[in-house]
Amino acid sequence: MYPISRLRRLRMTPNLRALVRETALEPADFIAPLFVVHGSGIREEIKTMPGQYRLSVDELVKECEDLYSVGVLSVMLFGIPEHKDHTGSEAYSHNGIVQQGIRALKAALPDLIVIADICMCEYTDHGHCGILHDHYTVDNDATLPYLCRQAVSFAEAGADIVAPSDMMDGRIAAMRQALDEAGYEQLPIMSYAAKFSSAFYGPFRDAADSAPSFGDRRSYQMDPANIREAMREIEGDITEGADIVMVKPALPYLDVIRWARDRYDLPLAAYQVSGEYAMIQAAGLNGWIDRERIMMESLLSIKRAGADLILTYFAREAAELLRR
Ligand code: PBG
Repeated sequence: MYPISRLRRLRMTPNLRALVRETALEPADFIAPLFVVHGSGIREEIKTMPGQYRLSVDELVKECEDLYSVGVLSVMLFGIPEHKDHTGSEAYSHNGIVQQGIRALKAALPDLIVIADICMCEYTDHGHCGILHDHYTVDNDATLPYLCRQAVSFAEAGADIVAPSDMMDGRIAAMRQALDEAGYEQLPIMSYAAKFSSAFYGPFRDAADSAPSFGDRRSYQMDPANIREAMREIEGDITEGADIVMVKPALPYLDVIRWARDRYDLPLAAYQVSGEYAMIQAAGLNGWIDRERIMMESLLSIKRAGADLILTYFAREAAELLRR
């Protein structure tokens, strides 16, 4: 107790603070989400996410070379297809945009970990994450074979990890079986296990043009009010064979990250989503906050809460800052 104990003693110099620091970020903690489009020479800034771009495959390769050179070892690919249709057919087409991106990246940067997001919403004309039944309900069981086809197609293209974000029940077991049957029993699944129905995804839906054309995602994504249910989602996905589980969004859900960390021993990922990024960028670009410090503090908080891996649009900038 004070005055014997004085917690300030170990705060007096930068090196003392470094000596007792409990949490440290590293570039290898980060996974950079990237948006791939058809065409070449395209690097189109996303209006709602300043500093993030829709990239054609050639530009994607350049971006990943830069990321890799600053120590970011993994990326997550999202595709913006040429055509959308009712069953999202570009999602599982050999020449789909993500498949093209994966092949180019594995040729240019064989050691880069290429993670492919699995979901129907970017590829369907109605913008929902699954196949529709009677034109307005997402049909869980009818969607599973499509997700499996997408997973196997990404595996054939050379993806290192597949990451289902659709929130259908039973998808991990279905995908594990489909991958194993196709000979990809060594391919890990990173499950978006506790994915909440969040307004923080708004800017992403502009970026990927994937907003639902009617209704919302509340019948498949989770209610933001529920943390016990989030544990059931995670537990179910672990039982079905997930290798890495994710909580998403990150900063507004640090309690969920902490609960998951305390209960489960799998590698845990957290996704600092587009709305979290957009808020920091908007306030920073207006001069209202110290953008760089808030970027680093938010990432540190996500790691301190228990995440091993952080999906973040700040991956490149944060890694550059850590290397300075
Ligand atoms: C696809 C998907 C979404 C995000 C990741 N995968 C959008 C959604 O569920 O509406 C959001 C990522 C972000 O906001 O940065 N289902």
